[in-house]
Amino acid sequence: MGRRNKITVVGAGNVGATAAHWIASKELGDVVLVDIQEGIPQGKALDLAQAAPVEGYDVHLTGTNGYEETKNSDVVIITAGLPRKPGMSRDDLLKTNADIVSKVTEEIAKRSPEAILIVVSNPLDAMCQVALKRSGFPKHRVIGMAGVLDSARMRCFLAEALDVSVENVTAFVLGGHGDTMVPLPRYSTCAGIPVTELLPKDQLDAIVKRTANGGAEIVGLLKSGSAYYAPSAGAVEMAEAILKDKKKILPCAAYLEGEYGINNLYVGVPCKLGARGLEQIIEINLMAEERIALQKSAASVQELVNVLGI
Ligand code: NAI
Ligand code: 2OP
Repeated sequence: MGRRNKITVVGAGNVGATAAHWIASKELGDVVLVDIQEGIPQGKALDLAQAAPVEGYDVHLTGTNGYEETKNSDVVIITAGLPRKPGMSRDDLLKTNADIVSKVTEEIAKRSPEAILIVVSNPLDAMCQVALKRSGFPKHRVIGMAGVLDSARMRCFLAEALDVSVENVTAFVLGGHGDTMVPLPRYSTCAGIPVTELLPKDQLDAIVKRTANGGAEIVGLLKSGSAYYAPSAGAVEMAEAILKDKKKILPCAAYLEGEYGINNLYVGVPCKLGARGLEQIIEINLMAEERIALQKSAASVQELVNVLGI
């Protein structure tokens, strides 16, 4: 008898719970939802389980405040973290979330030594570095989600501007998950046609800017909390590519060791995802200004990693 995939989602907040929802509705496998808040993961798992007869998915959903139930997970999505509170500096938040991600990763790695980790907690690229170090896993099994979200935002804006199906549009975003990310219209297409041939430069420039500001735009609207539908969909697309061994090329935060001239640092680049996790980093030729923008983005990730001293 076959065994169902097992996916643990740590953090049952907005991103984590919505990821569990997408996983269940796609029937990717059984879900274990973990959070420190008593009752929250249990309540959300039970609620999602009760939606199953209506939506017609057959997966088990478990909510817990511990880690025993996470044993032998195939994929673990880490969304645990705190949002920035008044009076808290960026560095304070960095250290608080690094402590949370460290602890979570250690608990997971002990019980699921073969799992593939998909990190979502912010600041994303630095948290990947923490998870890599704390898990002791090889780099192909610790991958960060940000590029799928950033490029999905760009695809959404491009499809709107072109008045075409979102399915026709691919977009390409490199770099860290922050203001310095590098959206590349030159490598973004509509039905295979570079968008640079379809839209004027000023409109593309505005889309690039809106993409880089995509997270802040949502925070500005929601007032409290940040985006979660698209971020959780991004993490689940990565999980699906791994669980189904799709060999799908997606922009992910990957630990670079010389690729793109960057060393020992997580930065967003195109990656092939399959059953072994990150199976290949795709290197493309960049123009001088694009390379400089990527280096600048990597430098801002390095700054955070230096603050953490890892
Ligand atoms: P949220 O505040 O709704 O949920 C976070 C959850 O983590 C809370 O339920 C909290 O109780 C839990 N938590 C805190 N410490 C924990 C611990 N030690 N163990 C287990 N759970 C713990 O936040 P939301 O909106 O779900 O965002 C989660 C994280 O993802 C944030 O750091 C956010 O900035 C990040 N994010 C990253 C994105 C990306 O593109 N990489 C996109 C969207 C969010
Ligand atoms: C976003 O880009 C907050 O990182 C999150 O929406």
